[in-house]
Amino acid sequence: MDGKPQVEVFDDPAALADAAALAIVHEAVAAVAARGRFLIALAGGATPRETYSRLARPPHDAAMPWRRTYAFFGDERWVPPDHPQSNFRMAHEALLSKVPIPPDQVFRMGCEGDDPEAAAAAYARTMAEVFGARRGEVPRFDLILLGMGIDGHTASLFPGSPALREVFRTVAAVHAAAAAIPQRLTLTFPVLNAAACVTFLVAGAEKARAVRSVLAEGALLPAGLVRPQDGRLVWMLDRAAAARLG
Ligand code: 6PG
Repeated sequence: MDGKPQVEVFDDPAALADAAALAIVHEAVAAVAARGRFLIALAGGATPRETYSRLARPPHDAAMPWRRTYAFFGDERWVPPDHPQSNFRMAHEALLSKVPIPPDQVFRMGCEGDDPEAAAAAYARTMAEVFGARRGEVPRFDLILLGMGIDGHTASLFPGSPALREVFRTVAAVHAAAAAIPQRLTLTFPVLNAAACVTFLVAGAEKARAVRSVLAEGALLPAGLVRPQDGRLVWMLDRAAAARLG
């Protein structure tokens, strides 16, 4: 990362979603122009839904290069894809079911069965194949979208998790005791910090303390450890989440 994160504050969640959708289109068009395709990792949770909905309707739906877009996920809860808490289900309902992205260019984290470690390894193999990554090479996403929890977690990288220390595997199976659904899969810091651009979408007063900790106090919370080595880091906040930045 060439320096401090780019911090953008918007009046409310709707304005944040408008700006985020536009930013994603810009990244996608630039990636396709430069490299012929757009490789994105979608964030889970509730915040991105509004942004995804905007991408699925005018004017953004026609501007996005869907046929050149490859959509992965930053993390997933260990639930079926039709479960109300599934990150895939949220993105599918808000966006993926409404746009002409080829189905074989959407890569869901397979969170079925009873072997999360095997599922993590399988997703890592799929990612490596699609990126054409050689053995030991870390896939470089054009854009990774992330959210942040009130405890500073991002993706499914929670404070105190052994996954925070992962330096080789690109996908980890984690058990986050503090989470409503503890078993999850998550991209790891090697992937997050290899991206060309990482954009956090954070809204709500309940996030203001964690936002201050990470952006103003340099707290080494998981979200604060996302620092792309050779890429841009953008924090898109609503006014409520930015309230303690001073
Ligand atoms: C998850 C998400 C997680 C999320 C934050 C914020 O699967 O839970 O990946 O990292 O981004 O918890 O969630 P909200 O947007 O719902 O506040």
